[in-house]
Amino acid sequence: MGKFFFINFKSYPEATGKNALSLAKKIESAAAAKKSPVQTVLVVSALDVLRVSSQVSLKVFGQHFDPNTAGAFTGSVGVESLLSAGAKGSILNHAEKKVSDEFIKKAVLRAKELGFPVMLCAESVERGIFFAELKPDFIAFELPELIGGTVSVSTARPDLVKGFIEKVQEKNSSCKLIVGAGIKTPLDVKKSIEFGADGVFVSSGVVKSPGPKKAVKELLSGFE
Ligand code: G3P
Repeated sequence: MGKFFFINFKSYPEATGKNALSLAKKIESAAAAKKSPVQTVLVVSALDVLRVSSQVSLKVFGQHFDPNTAGAFTGSVGVESLLSAGAKGSILNHAEKKVSDEFIKKAVLRAKELGFPVMLCAESVERGIFFAELKPDFIAFELPELIGGTVSVSTARPDLVKGFIEKVQEKNSSCKLIVGAGIKTPLDVKKSIEFGADGVFVSSGVVKSPGPKKAVKELLSGFE
């Protein structure tokens, strides 16, 4: 089965506005040079989805969306808006943008109505199991305390990564399982894949790297 390399641009200055596009182009060229079969997905601010998706061939996901339909919902980021901006999906409930269970249930239903892929972010194994019942396309497991750090979840808590993959797969074998937080090296990627993950979710290891192209190539080599 194909593997996934999600890169979260967050709201880092190096990865928003014009910088989002220049970073996206660097990632695109590094991924092309690597000729990897891994799907690289750029998770960008709703404000940058159109800018990036219209000029870069990699898939672009949003970082959040609201469950409402298109209409009188001031300030909302609806699925229709993301789709028309060129998004191919969105994450939801990132540790830095948490929403209620009610919100998640409604949003997943809305996305399904429009055939819009969703990745739910789970901060624990238990949350991952709960999300599996909602049948999103992807679930990402990220321990909040390791986000932005230098020790990856696969190194710090291999027991939890293995437990997440095993227990979530028992509930829903078709959902793709992604591991994130603190991933900085090819070994971090390799371990995640060996534990059974379908991919990884990385942010600072690429966005904050002094050499994003080199970082992307190195991280992609962890899938080999
Ligand atoms: O969304 C992925 C992110 O939360 C992981 O961040 O900086 O630990 O790779 P980082």
